Amino acid sequence: MDVRVAVGDIAQWKDEAIVVNLFDGVSKPGGATGAVDKALGGALSQLIAAGDIKAKFKECYVLPTLGKISAVRVFVVGLGERGKFTLDRVREASAKACLQARALRLDSISTIVHGAGIGGMDLADATEAVAEGAVLGTYRFARYKTKEEDGESGPDALTLVTTEKRDVRAIEKAIGVAQATAKAVGMARDMVNAPSNDKTPRHLADTCMTMARDVGLKCVVYDEKDIQKLGMGALWGVARGSEQPPRFVVLEWWGGPKSQKPIALVGKGITFDTGGISLKPQEGMLGPMWEMKYDMAGAATVFATMRACAELKLPLNVVGVAPCTENMPGGNAQKPGDIVRTIGGKTIEVLNTDAEGRLVLADGIGYVMRYDPQLILDVATLTGSMVFALGKKTTGMLGTDRKTIRRLLDASQVTGEPFWEMPVFEEYAEAVKSDFADVKNVGGRPAGAITAAKFLEKFTDGRPWVHLDIAGPVWNDGGVDAPKREYHPKGATGVPVRTLIRMLRDWAK
Ligand code: BES
Ligand code: MN
Ligand code: ZN
Repeated sequence: MDVRVAVGDIAQWKDEAIVVNLFDGVSKPGGATGAVDKALGGALSQLIAAGDIKAKFKECYVLPTLGKISAVRVFVVGLGERGKFTLDRVREASAKACLQARALRLDSISTIVHGAGIGGMDLADATEAVAEGAVLGTYRFARYKTKEEDGESGPDALTLVTTEKRDVRAIEKAIGVAQATAKAVGMARDMVNAPSNDKTPRHLADTCMTMARDVGLKCVVYDEKDIQKLGMGALWGVARGSEQPPRFVVLEWWGGPKSQKPIALVGKGITFDTGGISLKPQEGMLGPMWEMKYDMAGAATVFATMRACAELKLPLNVVGVAPCTENMPGGNAQKPGDIVRTIGGKTIEVLNTDAEGRLVLADGIGYVMRYDPQLILDVATLTGSMVFALGKKTTGMLGTDRKTIRRLLDASQVTGEPFWEMPVFEEYAEAVKSDFADVKNVGGRPAGAITAAKFLEKFTDGRPWVHLDIAGPVWNDGGVDAPKREYHPKGATGVPVRTLIRMLRDWAK
């Protein structure tokens, strides 16, 4: 979608539709909405007085203009109660207006920047939210649809109309940041939505190579031979059961000073998780097996975040790695009881082949040690246990680095992606002690998300580390417990890409 800025009076603006807003409980609209009301001869106030327009959050009314103003229609989007107004509501309101336009098959609409005027929000943040909501809300995964209805993908253009000429530069800049962010999220969604037969580890690695070339990242890909030579026995243990060879993808962004240690991102890239020999049931407690195509969402998050680092030219050093493989049963598959050796030398007793995420991450974390990273941040659809704990709406966060946890919570306030911290108390580590190796890959039912994190911690060598378990919020299955937002179409949500980007942007300030 093309998002642009223009200077003018929205009430005089010519387009297929103009979008204004209203808080719940306001009887006499002010600002731009008031101007439009006036131009329409008080039609809006009359509808409010009659009780026909209540401006509940995300309600969207379509008003005819009867030739009184240049626009063909007016959308009045409800912002809900003033006291509950947030940036994320701006994002959702914007998405709602765009989806309304799509329903009417419009190509082009114009809007005010919700929140910037009477809302009293920071202009850049509000602009970003409007642009993000529009682009992410109209996202579609239509690659496999052989027939498209006319207008199904619209609207193509959104104009942000401001009366303040001096704001144009700031708005343009914010649109640019939002577009880079939305592109990253869109890439992650595309990857996660893709069926596993079209996102084998080789596929993903090729996509990364191309992306890296496009945006100016350094990219190195290790194949199955390299992986074994490097000593990534845990990754290889998972990969050996599959006909599809694994790949280990490395992306590097050196935007910061030479003396600055890099931030290391590690993403779980299981392109399909059958469970391996510890085979999953067709219909699990948390969903059908086919959904396990999203088990590479951690890797997609890392790729997308790296893309944004380059596009936004962040003055930071960031490396992103992703061990990518299928987890399949097969004649050569690893078996419960097998013991594997990681790149860092520690041994793991594999008691359940379905706890494969932590295995590949152990080698991912071990690999980034060569960068002497100032922080290790891993992202994974790691445990069903986290979904039992927090549901599907919230990212679970565990780790040893208070500063990063704080940064992520702050960023999540802006992005509207909920994060919640869980403890990593030392006593939980006992659950992953092994009789035969240094550690075992299952810690039992109780506190499964925490013991999984304690397992990962063993491979961090005491470095600042944070783990994000995104098993819940990566996917919107349309259910009541899903991570629902107006800008989350069914399927991949792209969580937590926006929060990682925001955190790194704030970090770079
Ligand atoms: N990819 C799954 C985690 C998962 C499960 C994500 C359900 C989303 C929904 C992971 O590889 C897995 O299978 N974890 C097991 C670990 C267990 C065997 C210790 C789990 O959580 O059940
Ligand atoms: Mn698994
Ligand atoms: Zn998995």
